[in-house]
Amino acid sequence: MSHSPAAAAAVTEYDLSVIRKFAIMTVVWGVIGMAVGVYIASELAWPALNLDLPWISFGRLRPIHTNIVIFAFGGCGLMGTSLYVVQRTCQTRLFAPALANFVFWGWQAIIVAVGITLALGFTRTKEYAEPEWPITIAIAIVWVAYAIVFFGTIAKRKTSHIYVANWFYGSFIITVALLHIVNGMSMPATLWKSYSIYSGARDAMVQWWYGHNAVGFFLTAGFLGMMYYFVPIQAQRPVYSYRLSIVHFWALIAIYMWAGPHHLHYTALPDWTQSLGMVFSLILLAPSWGGMINGVMTLSGAWDKLRTNPILRFLIVALSFYGMSTFEGPMMAIRWVNALSHYTNWTIGHVHSGAMGWVAMVTIGAIYTMVPRIFDRDCMYSTRLINVHFWLATLGVVLYIASMWIAGLTQGLMWREYNNDGTLAYSFVEVVKAMHPYYVGRVGGGVLFLTGMLLMAYNVTQTIIKATPADRPVE
Ligand code: HEM
Ligand code: HEM
Repeated sequence: MSHSPAAAAAVTEYDLSVIRKFAIMTVVWGVIGMAVGVYIASELAWPALNLDLPWISFGRLRPIHTNIVIFAFGGCGLMGTSLYVVQRTCQTRLFAPALANFVFWGWQAIIVAVGITLALGFTRTKEYAEPEWPITIAIAIVWVAYAIVFFGTIAKRKTSHIYVANWFYGSFIITVALLHIVNGMSMPATLWKSYSIYSGARDAMVQWWYGHNAVGFFLTAGFLGMMYYFVPIQAQRPVYSYRLSIVHFWALIAIYMWAGPHHLHYTALPDWTQSLGMVFSLILLAPSWGGMINGVMTLSGAWDKLRTNPILRFLIVALSFYGMSTFEGPMMAIRWVNALSHYTNWTIGHVHSGAMGWVAMVTIGAIYTMVPRIFDRDCMYSTRLINVHFWLATLGVVLYIASMWIAGLTQGLMWREYNNDGTLAYSFVEVVKAMHPYYVGRVGGGVLFLTGMLLMAYNVTQTIIKATPADRPVE
């Protein structure tokens, strides 16, 4: 799998034009989604920034942020890398390249439609599944086309073996289709208004079965596929334990499905369901850490590479954040811990240690690895800029999550503080005021992270337009 001159020559045998488009749009959507993130973080710190305009109010921009970072930035990263990895590891061209092109353009059109309709206030109000029914149907169509291209390519592979990265990508594609279709079932009332076919506690359960598995398969399994291909490439070593990767795969997909109820502790959901969700979440720690250790240990015997290779540092730090958030998640799933963390900024801290620390950093590492290879360059334009990006991203995410952890604990503890006569010690607005410094801290973390993304956009552009690098290459 190493990038030898022979491999570079073979590059022309693959379908790369659609991969190039996905790679570019990953960076573009990353910048846009995170800029919106910085804006909404600023709105929470300084509410006047709502400017009394409904379409840029926090309530409307927040789902625009989540949809763009997850489905546009993460989605383009996953689609682009999966269609690249499946070709390389199956040693064959894409099945139905025209359909792959349809997937690319269809996905971009969907993202734009999502942005516009959410800004106008059309929403199903289901978190991470907000777009109204016409868009939900369009997503299903494009997704099925994506599945045909991916699995069609696997079917025409020239290798006997299906490399483990494809298992993870494949499970992500199948499961997201299932989740999307089941949770998307609604009865249209008008063109831009529909009602879920489920009601009450059942609707909540379907939604969080979807929501948690969106985390498990969109934000985790797909990116693990990325990890299993790009970490060995950068470490120039095979995966530490191939057997562990297979155990990791089956254990992860068997357990994730049951953990959803941890989003609904202390609700109308039957108690036993909540306990089941809690227990499965605790078990989930084992396969998650198995995968994390497998990725990190791939570097054993080559640790020195971390000193000189900032791309590898992105990938390994991403794995560390993956380990951290998959330790924190099971802890938060324990009911009594959740009683404190739920509704607080602690959840937001957890989300972003997974989202910025794991998802964004592994994507950034994968894109930096892939861009020179798909644009036929020896290396990225500037290794020094990748290094600066690495430090901005790392400091940014640490500042973000540390602010949210302190804010969350403060918030949770203030809410449950009572006076001797049983009345609340703090009014709601006092708790909101106590959040202000941490909200400002988060804006700082977001600005650092976004600045890193802008450097990446510059570096990628220069790599594409200039044939010679500005400084010493990584390898
Ligand atoms: C510059 C970087 C980022 C900033 C400044 C930022 C900021 C924010 C803010 C202010 C919120 C709303 C928090 C609240 O409602 O209290 C939020 C929510 C969220 N963001 Fe980000 N974000 C960033 C990057 C990302 C990335 C890269 C991802 C995913 C890959 C992501 C995924 C999410 C999710 C899933 C939520 C909803 C959390 C929940 O409902 O619990 N964010 N973000
Ligand atoms: C073993 C793995 C994990 C477990 C058991 C877990 C558990 C949890 C728990 C208990 C919550 C809080 C639910 C609540 O109080 O509302 C939560 C929220 C969340 N987690 Fe995790 N987590 C895990 C890994 C991850 C990873 C790797 C990510 C990647 C980005 C992630 C993303 C999220 C998101 C987006 C939410 C917010 C959902 C919402 O909108 O309310 N989690 N998780």
